[in-house]
Amino acid sequence: MNQLKSYLDQNKDRFVEELFELLRIPSISADSAYKEQTLKAAEAVKNSLEKAGADKVELCPTKGYPVVYAEKIIDPNLPTVVVYGHYDVQPADPIELWDAPAFEPIVKKTDIHPDGAIFARGACDDKGQFFMHVKAFETMVKNDALPCNVKFMIEGEEEIGSANLDEFVKNNREKLAGDVILISDTGMLANDTPSITTGLRGLSYVEVEVTGPNRDLHSGLYGGAVANPINILTKMIASLHDENNHITIPGFYDDVIELSTEEREAMAQAPFSLDAYKAHLNIDDVWGEKGYSTMERNSIRPTLDVNGIWGGYTGEGAKTVIASKAYAKISMRLVPAQDPEKITQLFVKHFESIAPDAVKVKVTPHHGGEPYVSPIDTAEYQAASKAMEATFGQTPIPVRSGGSIPIVALFERELGMKSILMGFGLDSDAIHSPNEHYGLFNYFKGIETIPYYYQYYTELKK
Ligand code: BES
Ligand code: MN
Ligand code: MN
Repeated sequence: MNQLKSYLDQNKDRFVEELFELLRIPSISADSAYKEQTLKAAEAVKNSLEKAGADKVELCPTKGYPVVYAEKIIDPNLPTVVVYGHYDVQPADPIELWDAPAFEPIVKKTDIHPDGAIFARGACDDKGQFFMHVKAFETMVKNDALPCNVKFMIEGEEEIGSANLDEFVKNNREKLAGDVILISDTGMLANDTPSITTGLRGLSYVEVEVTGPNRDLHSGLYGGAVANPINILTKMIASLHDENNHITIPGFYDDVIELSTEEREAMAQAPFSLDAYKAHLNIDDVWGEKGYSTMERNSIRPTLDVNGIWGGYTGEGAKTVIASKAYAKISMRLVPAQDPEKITQLFVKHFESIAPDAVKVKVTPHHGGEPYVSPIDTAEYQAASKAMEATFGQTPIPVRSGGSIPIVALFERELGMKSILMGFGLDSDAIHSPNEHYGLFNYFKGIETIPYYYQYYTELKK
C-alpha cells in the first residue's frame, strides 16, 4: 500500500488535470442541446479507462446515452468488484450565480476545504467521484497490485432517471456479473468524520397542470367570478401537508417502515450541530414533520416538495391577468417499503379528488425510483468500513442518506448484488447548485481508500 501511496503522491497534479479535462465537457443529459458534448464525455471516459489499463472497454449503446463498460479479469476464481458511476451532470442553471464558469474548473480554498476544492459542475456529482475509481484502478494496475477482478459501468442518464439502464442491466446480466457494486456518488459527514451511506430514499415525481378558463382573462372584468388556476393550485398544494407537516394523501404512510427506538437512538449518536446547520443555510429555524429530528426528517421519513411552480405573468411590471393554466413539479422522497408506483397512483387520485369543479387537473408522472437500505454485517460493508478506517484512522459511521440513486434497488433485484455507497462528498459541496465543488482532500482520500476496499473485500471473501 505504501507503493500505491507514493504513486498517488507523484501523480497528484496529473490526476487533477485529467479530471479537469472531463469537467470541461458539459455533459448535461437533461438538455438535448448538449447531446454532442454528452457523447463526447462518454468517449473521454472510455479513453481514460483504456489508458488506466482495462483490457476490454466498450461504449454500449442504449436508447439514450451509452453506458461505458470496462473490465479487467485477472482470475475468474477471484471476486469481482463492479464500479458504478455516472458521467452526466445536472444543468448549470442559474449560471449567473456561479462565481466562475461552471465548465471551466478551478481550484479555490474554502473554510471547509482549506487545502482547496475543485469548482465545476460535476466536480462532486459524479465525475470527481467516479474518476477516483479510474485513478485508483490505474494506480493498482501500474503497480501490479490489483487483488481481484474489476468491471466498470459508467452511465450517462443518472440525472434524468436512468430510464434506459433497466433494459441494459436486464440484457447484460452475464457481462455485469460480479460480487459487489461499489459506488462513490454520495457523501460523508465531514472530512474528520468519515461515514458510509447505508440507505437511499426512493422517488416519485409528478408534474401537475391546473386549467381554469379556456384563455387568459382580464383580472378586473372576470376577477372574483371565475376560478384562478394559480390561486387554486397553491391552495391544493398547501393542503398536502397538515399543521404537523404530515403529508395528507390518504394511504401515503401505509407501507412506511418505522425505525425502532434503538435504531433511532443509534442514529442520534451521529455528530450533528443544529446551530451549524442553520448557520450554513442562513436560516433562523428548521422546518419539518413533528416528532422527528432534522437528521430523521431528511433520511428516514418520506417527503413531498414542490420543485418548481409557474403560470401567469412573471415579466417586468404589472399585467392584470387571470391565467388559463398553472403548473407545478412535485417530488416525493420515499422510504422503505413505499412503492413509487403505488405512491404516484395515490397522489393522482388524491390530487384529482381535491380539485374543485371550477378547474380541471392533469397529473403527469415522471421517473421514479425505489428506496434502498444496506445491511452492515456483510463482507461488502465491512470491507468499506475497514478501508476508510485504514485511511481516516477512524471507523466510519453508517448513515442513511436522503438522496436517491434509483438504480441501486434494481441492481440488487436483477443482478443479485449489494451496492456499497462509499462516497467522499460533503453536503456542503453544493451538488446540483451553483458553485458545485469537491475537495482536493476528498478526491485524493478516495483514490487512496479504494485500493484498500479491493484488498479487504478480496480477503474477507476468501
Ligand atoms: N448522487 C446523487 C444522489 C445522492 C447525492 C445521494 C448525495 C446521496 C447523497 C444523484 O446524482 C442524484 O442527484 N439523484 C437524484 C435522483 C435522480 C433520479 C435525478 C436525486 O437524488 O435527486
Ligand atoms: Mn450522482
Ligand atoms: Mn445528481
